Amino acid sequence: MLKKELYLVDESGKRLCVFSVLKGTEGPEVFDIGHLYKETGYFTFDPGFFSTASCRSSITFIDGDKGILRYRGYDIGELAEHSDFLEVAYLLLKGNLPGEEDFALFLHQIKHHSMVHEQLIYFFKGFRRDAHPMAIMVSVVGALSAFYHDSLDINDPKQRVIASHRLIAKMPTISAMAYKYSIGQPFIFPKNSLSYAGNLLHMMFAVPAEEYVVNPVFEKALDKILILHADHEQNASTSTVRLAGSSQANPFACIAAGIASLWGPAHGGANEAVLNMLNEIGHKKNIKNFIEKVKNKKDGVRLMGFGHRVYKNYDPRADVLRKICHEVLKEAKQESNSLFELALELEKIALSDQYFIERNLYPNVDFYSGIILQAMGIPTTMFTVLFSLARTTGWVAQWMEMMEEPDKRISRPRQLYEGTAHRNYKDINNR
Ligand code: CMC
Repeated sequence: MLKKELYLVDESGKRLCVFSVLKGTEGPEVFDIGHLYKETGYFTFDPGFFSTASCRSSITFIDGDKGILRYRGYDIGELAEHSDFLEVAYLLLKGNLPGEEDFALFLHQIKHHSMVHEQLIYFFKGFRRDAHPMAIMVSVVGALSAFYHDSLDINDPKQRVIASHRLIAKMPTISAMAYKYSIGQPFIFPKNSLSYAGNLLHMMFAVPAEEYVVNPVFEKALDKILILHADHEQNASTSTVRLAGSSQANPFACIAAGIASLWGPAHGGANEAVLNMLNEIGHKKNIKNFIEKVKNKKDGVRLMGFGHRVYKNYDPRADVLRKICHEVLKEAKQESNSLFELALELEKIALSDQYFIERNLYPNVDFYSGIILQAMGIPTTMFTVLFSLARTTGWVAQWMEMMEEPDKRISRPRQLYEGTAHRNYKDINNR
């Protein structure tokens, strides 16, 4: 068999270093450069990690050119169609779809952890009512490490599993509490007889004074949205979780770090930014001007919900979401939702514009998700919170995978130093 290798040679053709080629199941092959610095004194330079595989993983596969996203080998469209969120959580964590008995046990384990410690309520009460719920999420999820001392030993596989169940189980409760706090309503306890998505809707929208019945169309749509957001390979927040975890920080602290990274508008904050953008455009007649503003780049305006570091083709998640959008708007009796019509028109115009064609800019997962969530009555400030709730499953699966590696090491990138070279200290009177 042909063994592929890459050589680094000096000007005289002398081999300085040999890099072997590693081949995964699918996707680009990678050069193993771990020994480059030791052997040659050179670093590689790849800000933004355009050409860097930061780890081995068996969880999620993306082919950005073909618009493929798979969890553990299953196409995302198929999972969204046939599976449900907790089954997908099981798949991401354990590697295979569960049999009936295993799934029943998993459901019990997750539901068993859905409540939060009563004392945690005081963390919410320390916030202003107008705090962004993501600010609350970063703090409260980080604070879990101060409550669950029996799942902090990262070297104990059993404690790692308990921590992962706790995180997945408590995220809906904490997310709904962040919302309830912002509108001054009492916190609603989880109801374990409901589905994961149904329970989230219940905790967000029920009030103690009235009976709340979960809308099955919204429940199904939310469940699909959670599936679509559950994992996405080594994106910024997942890499943050892995980086934090590489120092052997506890899982609650690592997930809080992931939430912080997800908050930014270039990542998880984009669906909130899409709605703000659509509201700002306001009417189809203003699209042309807006697109011009995006293209001239002077004002730093981007078409939010468009473009992706990895997808240079249609984001397969956006495809599923466009379909869900129709169903939810019909159920919400908003079939002539002006933002949806505006989004469809914006997508059509952008996809036929040379600027977007040349740069392979297509709608991403965030382009339609905000419209769906808003039609379900979910406020924009909660969009990123729901993304973080769904992605917690992927973060936890990736963290578990990393913790199980026998040769794991602290992640420590290096740099190209461009600051001042050595100089001597001068007394303040001589500067
Ligand atoms: N609108 C206008 N121009 C864009 C956009 C956009 N949304 N995205 C990329 N470009 C242009 C960019 O100006 C650059 O042009 P040029 O080659 O002339 O300099 C070119 O396309 C490449 O862009 P980039 O910023 O180098 O690409 P990136 O891979 O670093 O950025 C991105 C990826 C997602 C941050 C970017 O496309 C973006 O800012 N999109 C809008 C925000 C958004 O929707 N984010 C959600 C991402 S999906 C959710 C997730 O997975 O987190």
